[in-house]
Amino acid sequence: MKEVIRIEGGHKLSGTVRISGSKNATVALIPAAILSDGVVTIVGVPQIADVKNLKLLLEDLGVKVVFKTDDHIIIDPRNMVNAPMVSDHVTKLRASYYFMGALLGKYGKCKIKMPGGCYLGPRPIDLHLKGFEALGATITHEDGCYILEAKELVGDRIFLDTASVGATINIMCAAVYAKGKTIIENAAKEPEIIDIATMLNKMGAKIRGVGTDEITIEGIDKLDGCFHEIIPDRIEAATYICLAATAGENITIENIIPQHIDALLAKLEEIGIDFEADIDKVHVRGKSNVLKGVNIKTGTYPGFATDIQQPLTALLTQCGGQSQVSETIYTERFKHCNELNKMGANINVMTPSALINGPTKLSGTKVEATDLRCGACLVIAGLIAEGTTEISEIYHIERGYENIIGKLTALGAKVEKVIVE
Ligand code: EPU
Repeated sequence: MKEVIRIEGGHKLSGTVRISGSKNATVALIPAAILSDGVVTIVGVPQIADVKNLKLLLEDLGVKVVFKTDDHIIIDPRNMVNAPMVSDHVTKLRASYYFMGALLGKYGKCKIKMPGGCYLGPRPIDLHLKGFEALGATITHEDGCYILEAKELVGDRIFLDTASVGATINIMCAAVYAKGKTIIENAAKEPEIIDIATMLNKMGAKIRGVGTDEITIEGIDKLDGCFHEIIPDRIEAATYICLAATAGENITIENIIPQHIDALLAKLEEIGIDFEADIDKVHVRGKSNVLKGVNIKTGTYPGFATDIQQPLTALLTQCGGQSQVSETIYTERFKHCNELNKMGANINVMTPSALINGPTKLSGTKVEATDLRCGACLVIAGLIAEGTTEISEIYHIERGYENIIGKLTALGAKVEKVIVE
């Protein structure tokens, strides 16, 4: 018995969809909150499986966690203990690695299992570890766990070989209590990093330069509680915009920051999608009769986000001519293409690129959400496919998309979660 998402394709969607708080910001904000000596309130928390797992991880550390409303979490770390993080929940998500920086920063010590998350090809964390070592930590391994220890953390200059989102945030968290100044060079610039630094600064941290490639952190002695509202999820926003462009007419995607997805909006214009961006929403009117294939090369922010290339690929199957998607972040992030081919797409994967020949008619069949954004891509494909699409391994989708069935149903989709043999 397994849960699947079943979609009856071919229904025109319209209406308004409201975007939730950013998943990738939330999963770092929650671990970062334990750096505080006071109570941290975070609003705009999406109800997704990753948040449920983080709540369990916090509780393992003795942190009091209360959901005041569905999207409003109160984190009270005043009685927390630095317990080894060895439960299976650690391996259920990638972002559990943010407890490394937070616990090392707060206690100078941390024992934690290897993180989990989507398989997108190799996902090393050498840069996180290099940063911790530069601050004075030693790193050893025991029983499948990392053990990080430092007598004292002292600020240093750290150059990241790759502008890694995770390493930038993790080093920022570890460095807030370090003695003196830490400088992260070639830091990542994603909006989620600015959100984490904004919350830490509200708590009393002294972080400057976020959003540029050089971040400076002046160590402090104490962090207080704070109130923080999470930025909207730019990847969820992009997913619904791709969905609207592929399967909709007159769909408004609200509660977003359009500048965060400029790279996508530029491509949609090139493809021939008729849309209008406002301060906090995008309205997708529809598409011209002829959609034109485009080339995409993923990159670090503000380039084309790797997380968006998968949902966009569903639209590219409907564009005339050949489109090329080149991956520079996760070179093996093409499993969605095999699934789309099962539905009738004509995609040649030539790692690190995929060549999409279109337009092709898609037909419903049984497909697998091999990772989170692959799942989003297949949902979009299912909405335009002839017949019924059944998507399995939907826990991936539930890790990152709040109430996807409810949001799609409100737009007029015929979609349900069912249990099958
Ligand atoms: N990298 C290293 N060494 C490291 C860290 C990263 O070589 O120590 C490499 C990675 O292998 C990759 C590149 O650097 O090729 C970028 O990785 P990054 O560290 O920036 O990614 P991440 O922090 O693991 C976050 C998001 C991903 C998103 C990437 C890129 C979270 C929890 N995850 O991952 O989101 O794709 O940044 O923007 O924030 C998703 O939402 O579906 C997702 C996978």
